[in-house]
Amino acid sequence: MSEQKKPRTFHISTYGCQMNLADSSTLAAALAARGYRRVPREDDADLIILNTCSVRQKAEERVFGRLAELQGLKTGNGNRKIAVVGCMAQRLGAALIEKLPHVDYVLGTDREFELPDVIEGVEGTSRVMTAFGHENMDVIEPVKETPYSGFVTISRGCDNHCSYCIVPYVRGEERAHGADYITSAVREMVDEGVVEVTLLGQNVNSYRYGHLDFSGLLRRVLGETGIERLRFMTSHPRDLSPELVDVMADEPRLMPHVHLPLQSGNDRILEKMGRRYSVARYREIIEYIRAKLDYAAITTDLIVGFPTESDDEYEDTLAAVREFQFDTAFMFRYSPRPGTEASGFPDDVAEPVKISRLNRLIALQQAMSRQVNQREIGRVRHSLVEGYSRRSRDYLRARTEGNKTVLFKTVAVPEGTVLPVRITAADAFTLHGEIVERQ
Ligand code: SAH
Ligand code: SF4
Ligand code: F3S
Repeated sequence: MSEQKKPRTFHISTYGCQMNLADSSTLAAALAARGYRRVPREDDADLIILNTCSVRQKAEERVFGRLAELQGLKTGNGNRKIAVVGCMAQRLGAALIEKLPHVDYVLGTDREFELPDVIEGVEGTSRVMTAFGHENMDVIEPVKETPYSGFVTISRGCDNHCSYCIVPYVRGEERAHGADYITSAVREMVDEGVVEVTLLGQNVNSYRYGHLDFSGLLRRVLGETGIERLRFMTSHPRDLSPELVDVMADEPRLMPHVHLPLQSGNDRILEKMGRRYSVARYREIIEYIRAKLDYAAITTDLIVGFPTESDDEYEDTLAAVREFQFDTAFMFRYSPRPGTEASGFPDDVAEPVKISRLNRLIALQQAMSRQVNQREIGRVRHSLVEGYSRRSRDYLRARTEGNKTVLFKTVAVPEGTVLPVRITAADAFTLHGEIVERQ
């Protein structure tokens, strides 16, 4: 490709989960290292990148909608290139370009960091690349999301094959990063001023590298780096070990928040989902966490309308929400995904039923979140300042140890400062508080 035509500026939109967010940062760094400049507006970009998600049909529809709009942006600017990367690129591959010829590059989850090579026509690369097994895990540079926070991916892929889930197909088999890599990635971030690191994996609890399991990894990272606040996600109830809870109890720098997707409150549905735990087992884990820790925020994911879910079985999910008192939940209508085991089951819960089940569940969870948040009133939570409140510069927005948003009157501190905040009011989504003056 001639120098003239090489794109100079790029824009990335990210769909999906935090893994994609972390990957977008890595991809941006790879492009910046090759002389490309990131711009905040898509209109100003020579290279428009969509980092995509396949987890539900709606996620894919949003990307298709965006791609249709982008066709207009290309007309009149022959140099402009469009790249689709991530999970949808992985799932659809060349079919994406066949359907939408204005897309220039399709790079799957293992190949997306090669985008600069592909653009420059480096030998051995091509416009569509989706083969697995090409990444060298430990050369992927960890990237800060903000000057004070970052993600470090500890494993990629998933071996669980929950019957509804596309992730193992689009992310491949689980591969762990080395403990040395992870520790030095965290240390590097700390040296650059990062206060909070989140360790990422589809199922962090199944992490294993040599003899080291996940709780061992956490102890090592905490022991060998000066990181002030460490988080992790996502946890799988089947693999969450008592040792993990013990590390959380011992280590105040490990934030007391566990994202522990339950998915359903009914054992028959859990079995059909291939989750390999029962509600009773889930209860044991929650009880253990709450017994061992003075405080822990527990959040979850829930699916309604899974194939053959009856009204009574759905009611079991509502009962679980009442019982377990989650801080928050991500709640979804079941969406059949091509190639998964459950896509072979009859998708027999009618759409209006799914919608009304979801709406009732959301209303119940919101009431629970309000209750749980109101219990925070009077407590002091060490909170990481992230910026101004979205509504007013009179208030700062910070993140508590339990991963909740708290607002309080603006004081002159830089972003990334950790302040003790006493909670004074709470609704389902936000806490309000005041800074506790240091003596
Ligand atoms: N690795 C994580 C989350 C992966 S996807 C975990 O195992 O928990 C995030 C959430 O999307 C899942 O927890 C699930 O609640 C939801 N999800 C996944 N596939 C879905 C589908 N086919 N339909 C509806 N929701 C789905
Ligand atoms: Fe999907 Fe299950 Fe793996 Fe999570 S654990 S990514 S829900 S297959
Ligand atoms: Fe994440 Fe969506 Fe892929 S949830 S792993 S971006 S399918």
